[in-house]
Amino acid sequence: MSEENKNILSVQNLHTSFFTDNGEVTAVNGVNFNLEKGKTLGIVGESGSGKSVTAYSIMQILAQTGKVTEGKILYNGENILDWNDKKLQKFRGENVSIIFQDPMTSLNPTFTVGYQMIEAVRLHTNKTKEEAKARAIEMLTLVGVNEPEARIKQYPHELSGGMRQRVMIAMSLCCEPDILIADEPTTALDVTIQAQILELMQDLQKKLGMAIIMVTHDLGVIASMCDEILVMYGGRICERGTADEIFYNPCHEYTKGLLRSIPRVDNMNEKLVPIGGTPINMLNMPEGCAFCPRCANALKICLTEKPEEYQVGEDHLASCWMNVKELIESEEA
Ligand SMILES: Nc1ncnc2c1ncn2[C@@H]1O[C@H](COP(=O)(O)OP(=O)(O)OP(=O)(O)O)[C@@H](O)[C@H]1O
Ligand SMILES: [Mg+2]
Repeated sequence: MSEENKNILSVQNLHTSFFTDNGEVTAVNGVNFNLEKGKTLGIVGESGSGKSVTAYSIMQILAQTGKVTEGKILYNGENILDWNDKKLQKFRGENVSIIFQDPMTSLNPTFTVGYQMIEAVRLHTNKTKEEAKARAIEMLTLVGVNEPEARIKQYPHELSGGMRQRVMIAMSLCCEPDILIADEPTTALDVTIQAQILELMQDLQKKLGMAIIMVTHDLGVIASMCDEILVMYGGRICERGTADEIFYNPCHEYTKGLLRSIPRVDNMNEKLVPIGGTPINMLNMPEGCAFCPRCANALKICLTEKPEEYQVGEDHLASCWMNVKELIESEEA
């Protein structure tokens, strides 16, 4: 299969900015990745690292002040940035779907769950009202909502948080998208429901063959389900690799810090260490590596020059000068 066919989505050199009263905020600053059909990509990083803005750029649902200023977003080889509103609306309904960080963002409190789901199906297919209703009930059943016939008559506020999240997933899957973007789909839920929802998404992925982009700030939660993980910091990808590589061989100082700050079952006695300092101010980005002001091992070059991505293993890349230093030292040795 050619590269082009294999990748359902290819994000190339993506730059997204917000033009605010205080100046330009470059929330996404040169992001590259490919997503293959049916695969799962994880995007992790702390609050404000640009995860949601990357997702919204792909969906083309940025706030009015936001704009993709550079780069390409290829869906099956076509740059969606060249598309008109009509084509984008069709794309959002039929090809790509998003589960928002907060389910209340996309559920309208003034309409019943059923009404919203039926309208969504009818907008993107030529199903009749009855067929759309049957589809809504089918999807609610699939995501484990009990008594779906009764649920569709309820308003979002009448459902528990876990139920709302399930409704959101059902809604986003109604039109069987090729790509599902899940933006922190389980943050607001307790751990047992969290596990159920993730399992459910994997089941549905097998059934429907869709690709998933899992966005989260919690590396531990998604690791087992991702084929590849991108670690973001300050609007850039600082490290990428398989879950095993990221967990057992982290090569960027930020990823190492991230791993030290979460509990691990293989070493429960180890003390958790939070990453020192505060997240960067996007309006005042450092000249060199964005993580440099918080990095305990920073070199002189980190202050002034942004590191490129370096191959640190098979399918494993990191943008950290430390790796280059090690490389030079090993060559000299
Ligand atoms: N509408 C906006 N106007 C101005 N700046 C924005 C806007 N939306 C996002 N940003 C900025 O873009 C940066 C990235 O935000 P984003 O929402 O992508 O973070 P995130 O990684 O999803 O964080 P979280 O884990 O908190 O959801 C932040 O610095 C944020 O302040
Ligand atoms: Mg977010």
